[in-house]
Amino acid sequence: MVLQQQLKILISRDEIAKAVDRLAREIRRDYQGSQPLLIGVLKGSFVFIADLVRQLDLPLELDFANLASYGAARESCGKVRVIQGVKTPVKGRDVLVIEDIVDTGITTSFLLDYLKKKKPASLKLCTLTDKPCRRRVPVPIDYLGFTVPNKFIVGYGIDCGEKFRNLPDIYTLEE
Ligand code: IMP
Ligand code: MG
Repeated sequence: MVLQQQLKILISRDEIAKAVDRLAREIRRDYQGSQPLLIGVLKGSFVFIADLVRQLDLPLELDFANLASYGAARESCGKVRVIQGVKTPVKGRDVLVIEDIVDTGITTSFLLDYLKKKKPASLKLCTLTDKPCRRRVPVPIDYLGFTVPNKFIVGYGIDCGEKFRNLPDIYTLEE
């Protein structure tokens, strides 16, 4: 059982809301005249996507991908597996991937390569958080909410062992 004291607030719900506003403005501006296909990466991005899409006044479509990476509970080991791929045809579409966090970059880079093979018209990445000091594989980020320090974070959809996804703010989880 993790004690409340181990949770330290990192990004408040107000700061998150402002970042979502800003990202939605940037995406609306860049996708005028397009019918983008947003692809959410489960499960961590579900809260972010729910907030973001309600601010996107675009004829968008939404699908989800579920990926698993083997390794220690808290990090990728480099082997990624598609649990549920994207069912919507991607060929010729303007695809925007929505992530909760880019850490080592292994998972996101795998997904971008997987989608690239399906020949989208364009492929971009929006992530709520980025932990650049942990990067092992380069990942081009087109829309970024927050750069976060080298700490384990939870809340706003992001979990630790499936817990804390329901917290409205983002916290660091101290050992
Ligand atoms: P990657 O290391 O960039 O491949 O990230 C793999 C996955 O690890 C992410 O999609 C998250 O699910 C998880 N992850 C990485 N850092 C954190 C964190 O700080 N908190 C919770 N999950 C994380
Ligand atoms: Mg993720």
